[in-house]
Amino acid sequence: MKIKMKSKNICCIGAGYVGGPTMAVIASKCPNYKITVVDIDSKRIDLWNGDLHRLPVYEPGLKEVIDATRGKNLFFSNDIDKEIRQADIIFMAVNTPTKTEGKGKGMATDLRFVEKCAERIAKMSLSDKIIVEKSTAPIGTAKRIKEILKLNSKNIKFEIVSNPEFLAEGTAINDLLYPDRILVGSDETPSGKMASKVIVDIYKHWVPENKIITTNLWSSELSKLASNAFLAQRISSINSLSALCDESGANIKEVSRAIGSDSRIGDKFLEASVGFGGSCFKKDILNLVYLCKFYGLNEVAEYWHQVIKINQFQKERFSQRILTILDSDISNQTISILGWAFKKNTNDSRESASIDISSNLLKKDANLNIYDPMVKSSKVKKDLVENLKNQGLSMKEIDTKLLRVRFFDNINDSIKNTDCIAIMTEWDEFKNINIDEISKVTSKKIFIADGRNILNPKNIESSKVKYISVGNSKF
Ligand code: UDX
Ligand code: UDX
Repeated sequence: MKIKMKSKNICCIGAGYVGGPTMAVIASKCPNYKITVVDIDSKRIDLWNGDLHRLPVYEPGLKEVIDATRGKNLFFSNDIDKEIRQADIIFMAVNTPTKTEGKGKGMATDLRFVEKCAERIAKMSLSDKIIVEKSTAPIGTAKRIKEILKLNSKNIKFEIVSNPEFLAEGTAINDLLYPDRILVGSDETPSGKMASKVIVDIYKHWVPENKIITTNLWSSELSKLASNAFLAQRISSINSLSALCDESGANIKEVSRAIGSDSRIGDKFLEASVGFGGSCFKKDILNLVYLCKFYGLNEVAEYWHQVIKINQFQKERFSQRILTILDSDISNQTISILGWAFKKNTNDSRESASIDISSNLLKKDANLNIYDPMVKSSKVKKDLVENLKNQGLSMKEIDTKLLRVRFFDNINDSIKNTDCIAIMTEWDEFKNINIDEISKVTSKKIFIADGRNILNPKNIESSKVKYISVGNSKF
């Protein structure tokens, strides 16, 4: 293979939550590399090239990194074919959603975008290249990419490297700057190992060598799915126990602390919640389940599927608890939904628990006041319409339901004259809700359903407020 060990021209296909921040950090740490991010969505590219305060992805610290690198060694372009041709290394960071039709519908990963990219790379390339699989994909995808590249090109050699991302939204820049580990999987052939070294060399600019793990392709692909499955499993474990706490007299925060103090278990990812969201956990676990079934490992498939089932259970349980505490004609009651993002410090609402819970409440004809500091009301509306549609409601029924929804751009107005405040996202500003102020201006009893356990029940002593949390509120 004619890959130069000093390959310095990188192209990244996919300017999303992963591609944008990842390439920005690589550019900032590797000034001797030229990096161009391309995307089929030209509006997205325009936004990346535009005002730093209106970048298409919000991440703390992102605009500073973009400011320092854009136009120097980091570029955003719509000319996909030209950038493919010029690159020595191509990162694929396109989305890999769950299939919505065909074989494996609702479970398997839809590799359409990855496959299309591979085809385009093969057709446009005039020189040998390293293709980096950044998108999370099922094991065996690298093999599939390799086949497509071979089938669609002539006399060009491609090496595939799997380099999954482990960044979490809201902390992406920090995760990229100080990763726990970097995983690079490749073929175990001499040219495969050489390609792996080229990618490792990029990260060596700022990541200590002992944090860079090299494996074969299959291990790398599986490790990514398994890491997300383990993280989600911890949340479902603690959420399942929160249900038991709500029925008994135990307090999930105390239980979580007691469990997490065991250094073999560790204290992270043990916070009970309304249920996990985000673009990865559900999709990756469904993918793992599908793979297990494919290999006839039905018991293993069922084991992991349970993680998702508990998450769904938690969302239903929280919706039901709100309906139970309000306990009267729900169509006359208003519930303030605080938070639409799937976690704080992001404008991303993919798979957010808020969507399912709000839909459940709307189906019962509740009135909703919705507020999120970062997610736009147009996006909230879109999420609701899509969710209600998937549940079989007609557009006419959905329009009627939406008449019950009001959107707010500040917290104070959203909780005025409400019957229930439901905290869905752990945004810092929700931690300081002024309970005294609320109870002063209303004559009725208000319920607070704290889906993130961020308020201190001891501070809520007003007789006009009833507080329930997740996992510490027998009622
Ligand atoms: C990423 C990963 O790539 C995904 O596999 C992982 O599981 C989650 O994170 P993400 O960056 O969050 O996806 O997705 P998104 O923000 O939707 O960005 C993907 C981008 O790829 C979009 O901007 C889309 O326009 C672009 N795209 C998609 C292309 O440029 N070409 C395509 O053929 C398809
Ligand atoms: C996750 C992985 O953490 C990351 O390594 C991978 O690359 C992509 O998927 P992300 O989905 O961005 O990242 O966020 P994460 O911080 O993992 O949170 C996922 C969901 O779990 C959020 O809804 C969060 O609120 C929830 N969560 C997290 C809990 O409910 N309890 C916890 O203790 C931790």
